Amino acid sequence: MDSSQTGEQWQNLLLPHLAEYSPATNLSQNEVIRKLIAEGQTIYHFGFGQSPFPVMKSAQKALAEHTGENAYLPVAGIAELCASICEFHAKEDKLSHFHADDVIVGPGSKELIFLLMLIFNGDVILLSPTWTTYKPQMLLAQKSTHVISTSFESNWKLTPEAFLQTIKENQLEDKNKLLILCNPDNPTGTSYTEQELESLSKVFRDHNMIVLSDEIYAKLRFDGGHVSIAKYYPEGTILSSGISKWASAGGWRLGYNIYPKKLSALKIAVKSAGSHTYSCASGPIQYASLMMFNFDEESQNYVFHCRRILSAVAEYCYRELTSVGIKVKRSTGGYYLMPDFEILRPYLERRGIFTCSQMCEALFQEANVAVISAGPAFLRPIDELTVRFCYVSFDGESALKASSQIDQKDLPEDFVVSNCQNIVDGVQAIKKWVNRQMTN
Ligand SMILES: Cc1ncc(COP(=O)(O)O)c(C=O)c1O
Repeated sequence: MDSSQTGEQWQNLLLPHLAEYSPATNLSQNEVIRKLIAEGQTIYHFGFGQSPFPVMKSAQKALAEHTGENAYLPVAGIAELCASICEFHAKEDKLSHFHADDVIVGPGSKELIFLLMLIFNGDVILLSPTWTTYKPQMLLAQKSTHVISTSFESNWKLTPEAFLQTIKENQLEDKNKLLILCNPDNPTGTSYTEQELESLSKVFRDHNMIVLSDEIYAKLRFDGGHVSIAKYYPEGTILSSGISKWASAGGWRLGYNIYPKKLSALKIAVKSAGSHTYSCASGPIQYASLMMFNFDEESQNYVFHCRRILSAVAEYCYRELTSVGIKVKRSTGGYYLMPDFEILRPYLERRGIFTCSQMCEALFQEANVAVISAGPAFLRPIDELTVRFCYVSFDGESALKASSQIDQKDLPEDFVVSNCQNIVDGVQAIKKWVNRQMTN
C-alpha cells in the first residue's frame, strides 16, 4: 500500500491544543442509546436533557405558514422578533432596560455563547459542576479558564466569598473577565434567590465582572419565580436564552443573547462573527418563533402544564432516590438532578469499581439505566460518584393531555405513577440495583 491509501502523508492534522478534543458526551451517548432502543432493547434513558413535550400547535402552524421565507435575514435577527424578545423579558422578568437592537438572535444560544468566547479578550470563570459545553468551547476558543468549585452543602451555588477568593488567588483584579452563571442550573437543578443574586451582583460590580447569565431554563422554574441577575446587575449582564427548553423546540435551533449598552462592542463583534459563519438564524423559524414570545394565553397555559409535570416528576425521582440513601438536592426547575452515589463506595470498591464512569457502566450493563457520570466533563473530581440525571424520558404528549384535565393547583400524588411509566420503571431499576450492591 502506498501512502496515498494509508493516509500516512497527513499526520498531526489537529491543532495541538485539540489533541484530546472529544464530542459532547450527552449527544454521543444519546446517539448510541437511541440506536439500541430502536433495536428493541429496554433502556431507561436518564442521560439526555431535551424536552419531552411537543411544540405548541400554534407554533407548528406558524412554521408551516412560513416555509416560503427563503431570504437571508438581518444577521442579528428580524426586528419584530428582537422587539418581541425584549417585551417578553420586560413582562416576564421585569427587565425593562433591553432594546431590540441589544438582541442577537442566532442558530441556538450555544453558538452565540461560543462566538462570544472566541472574540472576548479576557479570562473566563466557570463553576463546577458545569454544563458540559462551556469548557470545550473555551478549549476551542483557547480561553484562559478558572474554575470555582461549588458544593453539595452550598446547594451547588456560587457564593460571594468563593468568587472573591478566586479573583484574589488568580490575580484577576485588573484583567477583563467573564463569568458564566447558569440559572436555573444544568446539571444540578439549583436556582438562585433574589437575595443571593443581589449579594453576588455587589461583588461582581466591585470587580467589573462581565456575567453571561444562561437562563435557558428560566421559564421552567417550578415555582414560576425566576429572577435574573440582570435585574440587579444590568450594566454587566449578558442574558442568554432561547426556545429550546420552555418552548420544547431544541431542534428548531433558535437562541439569543441580549447585551447591555455598555458591552455593545462585544455585541457588534459577535454579530460580525455571525455574519461570517452562519449568516442568520433560519428564516421560517424566526417568523414562527414570533408568536411564542407574545406569550399569550395558550403559551402561558402550555408552560404551566409542562412545568407542573416536570416538577412532579422531579419530586418523584428525588423522593425515590433519597429513599435508598442516594444524596441529592431537590431540583427547582429544568430537567436535571445531580445524585451522589457515595453511599455505594465501599461496596463498589469491593467489585473493583473506583470511578464514576465505571459505576455508570455497571449501572448500564446490570440495570439498563443510562446516566452520565459527572467527573471531568462536568469539572468534577474523577473519583466523585455524582451523575447527571435527566428526568425527561416520558411521553410528554400524553402527560400534557392528562395534566390539562386536572383542574386543581397541584397534580395528584399518583400522577407520575399513572402517566410517566418509563420514569417509574427506570427509577425502580436504579433502586433495586443500589440495594443489590449493598446486600451482595
Ligand atoms: C445550560 C444550557 N445552555 C444552553 C443550552 C443550548 O441551548 P440552545 O439550544 O439554545 O443552543 C443548553 C442545552 O442543552 C443548556 O443545557
